[in-house]
Amino acid sequence: MKPTALVAGNWKMNGLAASRSELEALAVLLKGGAKAACNVLICPPYTLISTFAEMNTDGIAVGAQDCHTGVSGAHTGDISAQMLRDAGAKYIIVGHSERRADHAESSSLVCEKACAVHSEGLRAIICVGETEAERDAGNTLAVVLEQLAISVPEEASPENTIIAYEPVWAIGTGRTPTVDDVAEVHTAIRQALEERFGAEGTGFAILYGGSVKPSNAKELMSAPNVNGALVGGASLKATDFNGIIDAYR
Ligand code: PGA
Repeated sequence: MKPTALVAGNWKMNGLAASRSELEALAVLLKGGAKAACNVLICPPYTLISTFAEMNTDGIAVGAQDCHTGVSGAHTGDISAQMLRDAGAKYIIVGHSERRADHAESSSLVCEKACAVHSEGLRAIICVGETEAERDAGNTLAVVLEQLAISVPEEASPENTIIAYEPVWAIGTGRTPTVDDVAEVHTAIRQALEERFGAEGTGFAILYGGSVKPSNAKELMSAPNVNGALVGGASLKATDFNGIIDAYR
């Protein structure tokens, strides 16, 4: 099975009601350009999910950036996958390095969150990636593969799960690994998925994330086993994000 490519925007803690215009602008660019051979997703902050979903923008799915492991209950400030589905989310990112760092999220918690996403029939985008110190110490593959083994739940399938490899040191820094480095990690992830899930392992989309922009997207997306991008900063502007989607035109 060949993975379906995905270009996903992670708006992080950015976006107000006025950002509707950016989504509208993206829709216009997608409609006006050649059809891209990838799915397109925007994950705005929680406050904009229902607004964006109700805009019902042709060809742009809406997703969330995190969720709680439970369905409902006494968890002040938390949001469940069920609520996000209800608001119109189709995908939920779990285990982003900023969650792992800012909220001390472990891979086993990330696995529980992915299960919560799956229970709602949504797709989990599970993030993994090494820090700069881990890369410098030569531990990149060991770290990434351990995060992958623990964070990805048993019931994961290419239909309900997408993997995102995001080197922590490349996020928001303007620095990217070489294409060879990206290919090495993505190929190791692919092999691990095939070992664990058999033939199904070939079907998981594996996204690259970390300082993807229009000028480097085509090269990064052409690396073996790279099936799309998870984009932070450059997803905030419709023209930049569309320039990344160009890699699939
Ligand atoms: P960046 O963020 O594109 O701004 O580096 C990527 C991410 O954190 O998903």
